[in-house]
Amino acid sequence: MAKRKRVLSGMRPTGRLHLGHYFGALQNWLKLQEEYECFFFVADWHALTTHYEDTSSVAESTLQVAMDWLSVGLDPEKSTLFIQSSVLEHAELHVLLSMITPLSWLERVPTYKEQIENLKDRDLGTYGFLGYPLLQSADIVIYDADFVPVGEDQVPHVEVTREIVRRFHHTFCLHIDDALGLPGNAPLRKQIGDALGVDLFIPGPQHMLVELPWPECRAKLRARIVEIGFDNAMTKLSSHQGKFFRMKRVLVEPQPLLTQTPRLPGLDGRRMAKSYGNAIWLSDPPEEIRNKTRNMMTDPQRQRRTDPGRPEVCPVFSWHKLFSPPETVAWSEQGCRTAGIGCVECKKAMADNLIKWMEPIQTRRKELEANPQQVWGMLDAGGNAARTVARRTMKRVRNAIFKWDEARK
Ligand code: TRP
Ligand code: SF4
Repeated sequence: MAKRKRVLSGMRPTGRLHLGHYFGALQNWLKLQEEYECFFFVADWHALTTHYEDTSSVAESTLQVAMDWLSVGLDPEKSTLFIQSSVLEHAELHVLLSMITPLSWLERVPTYKEQIENLKDRDLGTYGFLGYPLLQSADIVIYDADFVPVGEDQVPHVEVTREIVRRFHHTFCLHIDDALGLPGNAPLRKQIGDALGVDLFIPGPQHMLVELPWPECRAKLRARIVEIGFDNAMTKLSSHQGKFFRMKRVLVEPQPLLTQTPRLPGLDGRRMAKSYGNAIWLSDPPEEIRNKTRNMMTDPQRQRRTDPGRPEVCPVFSWHKLFSPPETVAWSEQGCRTAGIGCVECKKAMADNLIKWMEPIQTRRKELEANPQQVWGMLDAGGNAARTVARRTMKRVRNAIFKWDEARK
């Protein structure tokens, strides 16, 4: 069987999760864990990048997030679930990558300026905040992740990660020596690699084959080689024409995975967010759900019971589509347009179905709440499994940078 592709994603320890988290991310994660080898972690270090001054809730929030993950069906038998800080290798990779990361790459990440603008009440002039996309790069790269399911706002971070990976290869992994007979001439190796627009490496067990795109390379090379004053490099290289070169791939360039998420507005019709106070938590008990949904926003133009309404602008109807069976959705739509039903009964029917939908999640959650040690234990076990993978990657990374193996031969 072919090795499954890897998926990695992280979530900050924000505390209990709500329906917005479910439909925005978790539902997708549940699908992914069936198909991919998944790593999901609670990003406790990331929480510090914006909230270092108040760490009082990080530990408890981590537990809450983990319990919600398990409640909705993330399965430690299928996915590796862990806490970022339990795998110290993330920090090591972060420090190594920081050495080759131009400040300008971080300064131009859109969320950097935006957040500094938006969170004026907070001091974000820290190194940790600037470097946070790079910490995220380390999180991703350390597991050789192929795909990173993220929201739109996080796509630039995956882009930065790809650029860092390329820069890493260019800086530390060019091994054109064998092909050109240029052992140890790193600057020249790099110049030729740059001129070729490809990375060339010494053949070895962990290399992958790439074809040298010869015709354009030759032109580029000729110009470059003259410039760098090494004319016989050209001759040597041309003897490899049409052959395959082996390229060493130390790190994987990840891709963002943007998925269509269903629209789930908050109780007041805006995006569901903790700060808006318009959320239903996965842990809200049935009475709470009833209370909250009773006051939910509806079509503002439907003032009286006799006014026909427009389900397409009503959050209650959006929720019906997610939680109610098709006949109830049809009943609501029809009844709304014809003023055949009132908003009170429409909301009540929706709440009934929402509560039913939540039932298995809440049953599992209650079991977990009764036994938090089991949840911590699961996270620790996930951390151990993640560390095994991370250590393997770090061995390759250290060796690419410092060539320890060559030196110790
Ligand atoms: N930065 C993400 C957020 O704020 C969380 C995160 C940290 C993450 N590391 C990651 C997401 C790696 C995807 C991959 O939501
Ligand atoms: Fe919304 Fe239902 Fe009222 Fe129509 S009847 S406005 S869908 S709550």
